[in-house]
Amino acid sequence: MKIEQNHSLQPYNSFGIEISSKYFSSFSSIESLEEIIEQQQKSSDPLLVLGGGSNILFTKNFDGWVIKNDLKGIDVIKTDRSFIYVKAMAGENWHQLVLHCVENGYAGIENLSLIPGNVGASPMQNIGAYGVEIKDVFYELEAYLITDKKIVRFSNKDCAFGYRESVFKRALKNQYIILSVTYQLRKEPIYNTSYGAIEKELDAMNIDRLSIKSIADAVINIRSSKLPDPKKIGNAGSFFKNPVIPTIQFELLKKSFPELPGFTIAEVVKVPAGWLIEQCGWKGFRKADAGCYDKQALVLVNYGKATGAEIFDLSTTIIQSVQEKFGITLEREVNII
Ligand code: EPU
Repeated sequence: MKIEQNHSLQPYNSFGIEISSKYFSSFSSIESLEEIIEQQQKSSDPLLVLGGGSNILFTKNFDGWVIKNDLKGIDVIKTDRSFIYVKAMAGENWHQLVLHCVENGYAGIENLSLIPGNVGASPMQNIGAYGVEIKDVFYELEAYLITDKKIVRFSNKDCAFGYRESVFKRALKNQYIILSVTYQLRKEPIYNTSYGAIEKELDAMNIDRLSIKSIADAVINIRSSKLPDPKKIGNAGSFFKNPVIPTIQFELLKKSFPELPGFTIAEVVKVPAGWLIEQCGWKGFRKADAGCYDKQALVLVNYGKATGAEIFDLSTTIIQSVQEKFGITLEREVNII
C-alpha cells in the first residue's frame, strides 16, 4: 500500500480541475482498503472515496484522504431461464462493462453506453440515459461499512433508487464504500428505442436488423455528437438535474412560454433544464476557461485552466437567472467538494 502526500487530483476528476489532496492512495483488494482505512482513522482527517471522478467538482484542495477504488473483475455469477447475472467490481470502467455485455449478448444496459465513470457510481446516483436507469437492471450490490469493517449486501429496494438518487447519496451518505454491483441482464433483449433521438439515429444508420449492438452504436453516436469528451474538454456530464414541477405551475408557465417542453409523470412535469438554461442565453457562454457547452446547455465545461470555484460560481449565476426568468430552482447533480 502506497500513500502519497499532496498528490495532484487532476487526472482523477473528469473536470480536469488542478487541485490536490493531503493524502492519496488506491486499493485493488479489500485487504488494502482495510489497511488504508486503519491509517485514515488514526488521523482525524476526512475520507473521500473516488471512483471514475466523473460526477464531482473540486472547489478547493481536499484536506484529507482521497482513496481511489481500483477493484477489478467482471464475472457471470449465475444464470436462469431468462437472465444472466453479471457481477462487476466497482473500479471497472462503466462503458467497458457495457461493451463486454453487448459483445456477449447480455441485454439491458446498451442504452447506457458511453456514460463516463466507474461501475461503483452506477447505483450511487442511479445513472440513466435514453429511457433506461440502473434501477431497471440492478440485482444487488456489496458495500463496505466503514465503521463496522464489514461487507453488507443491498437489494434493489434497499438502495431506495430515485431520479439520479439512492440511499448512498442521502441517509447512508459517506458510510459505505461500494465494492461490487450485480446486474440482472436478459438473454432475450427487450429493445428500448422509445426515446425520440434513438429511433431517428437508427433510421439514419440504415440498420436492417435491430440488435443491442445497433442500439449501443446509436447511443454512442448521439452522445458523441452532443456531449463533450472529458478527455478533450473537462466536464462532468449534466451539471444540473432536470427539475420536476407541479402540473399547475407547468400550465401557468406554458402561457408565458408556449414552447416549454415537459414530460408528465403522474401529478408532476419534468422540464428539461437544458432548455431553461438555453432560454436564459447561457448556451455557449464562456468566461475565462469556465463555460456552458455550446451543444448541450446542461453541461458545464472547463476549457483548460478553470478553477472549481469558477465553475461553481457560473453554476450559481445560472441557477439565479433560471430562477428569475421561470421561478424554477435548478438543483446541481454533480457532487461539490
Ligand atoms: N434542450 C434544449 N437545449 C439544450 C439541451 C436540451 O433545449 O441545450 C432540450 C431539448 O428540448 C431536448 C430536451 O432538452 O429535447 C432533452 O435534452 P436531451 O435529450 O439532451 O436530454 P437531457 O434531459 O438534457 C438527460 C440526462 C442525460 C442523458 C439524456 C438522454 C439528466 C440530468 N440528464 O439530459 O444524462 O444522457 O437525458 O437520456 O437527466 C448525465 O446525467 O450526465 C447525462 C448526460
